[in-house]
Amino acid sequence: MVGSGGREHALALRLLASESVGEVVVTPGNAGMRMAPQRFAPKVLRSVAGNPVEVAVHEAVDLVVIGPEVPLCAGLADELAARGLTVFGPTRAAAQLEGSKAFMKDFAVRHGIRTARHEVVRASGELEQAVQRFGEAPVVKADGLCAGKGVVVAESASEALDAARGMLSGEAFGDAGKTLVLEERVEGAELSLHALSDGERFVLLPAAQDHKRLLDGDRGPNTGGMGTHAPAPLATPELVERARREIFEPALRGMAAEGNPFRGALFAGLMVTPARELVLLEFNVRFGDPETQVMLATIDGDLGDALDGAARGALDPAALAPAARHAVCIVLAAHGYPEKPRTGDAISGLDAAEALEDVSVLHAGTAVSGDAIVTAGGRVLGVRASAPTLTDARERAYAAVGRIQFDGVQFRRDIAARAFGEILS
Ligand code: AMP
Ligand code: GLY
Repeated sequence: MVGSGGREHALALRLLASESVGEVVVTPGNAGMRMAPQRFAPKVLRSVAGNPVEVAVHEAVDLVVIGPEVPLCAGLADELAARGLTVFGPTRAAAQLEGSKAFMKDFAVRHGIRTARHEVVRASGELEQAVQRFGEAPVVKADGLCAGKGVVVAESASEALDAARGMLSGEAFGDAGKTLVLEERVEGAELSLHALSDGERFVLLPAAQDHKRLLDGDRGPNTGGMGTHAPAPLATPELVERARREIFEPALRGMAAEGNPFRGALFAGLMVTPARELVLLEFNVRFGDPETQVMLATIDGDLGDALDGAARGALDPAALAPAARHAVCIVLAAHGYPEKPRTGDAISGLDAAEALEDVSVLHAGTAVSGDAIVTAGGRVLGVRASAPTLTDARERAYAAVGRIQFDGVQFRRDIAARAFGEILS
């Protein structure tokens, strides 16, 4: 497993729990993954530093699972495959679906996938006229990877212009911003839907909702994600069926037809409009974080078999099935996140939180310092609980959060609250 976040911690634990898996090696891993969980003994989870290709070859692993988008877009799957390894994660060419927003938008148009109207801008001379062609202020997106910061949902044309100029000049995001996508703003509720695919067949995972703003009530700055719940009540079976037909089928067929079959996790960021239309906002070529934490707690089946099958081009679509459970994950972030996260705050209460039934504390930005676990990044921990009902999962997750302390901790108190509105409405 390549990566070091909460997503990888959740994947590693679920893989250890899979009958098909004997051992998990994570590179580089994090402090949480270095605390070997006893409940899986004699199976072990190890963290190893080093170049991922060399680690995989040296450890003679049967399967490599790549977590984050940066190595995928840089071609790590291709490099590993060239060394004879079996890889869950798309090739560099297929990873363009996330690595270039202009590629993704053109691809969606080519294959009849509904997405917001857009224009690609490459030169500042074209900018003003392009912005004017949108009725309201367009959303401004840097073409390349920007660690989740490359999108500005502007409130006015002048704000959009300022953001766009900062990107085009290279000041904001370097080369990643020198090509822009302007797109129509879409209103609605956001949904995260994931498919595991072997390039041809695919299986959908339970729909999740993320909470991207820092503060309760969707206020404050955008973050990598402050919490999730699954399955999302917004995603009725009928809506999921439409997403399958209108988005995943054409996308996976289109990638294969263009010579880039997609093997890995395809994550569609969707907007469900008030008229209940589905608009594709983005594709990611990997599991979402913190969506993965809740999706894995709401499926039954052997994850090792599913990922291995997808990697080998022989996915059994029945390998994973929805479980009769609900999960909520609450992110605990460091003081100063997202602008300037403070590090080095000692964390207590981890064992007490995990002593609660069906609670897992998934590490992201943590480190070991002497005898203590300390904060070492923006999103520090994901506290996940599962239960037969969403109400119970949510209560349990907040009870666990109440047992964990560190100075300056930030978390939202309304994770999954909107789901209850959706149940009622
Ligand atoms: P993206 O990385 O493209 O998903 O954009 C990040 C976030 O910006 C999304 O999760 C949405 O909250 C918001 N966003 C992106 N595109 C649009 C759009 N066309 N209309 C409204 N909000 C958007
Ligand atoms: N939680 C959103 C993402 O992983 O991109």
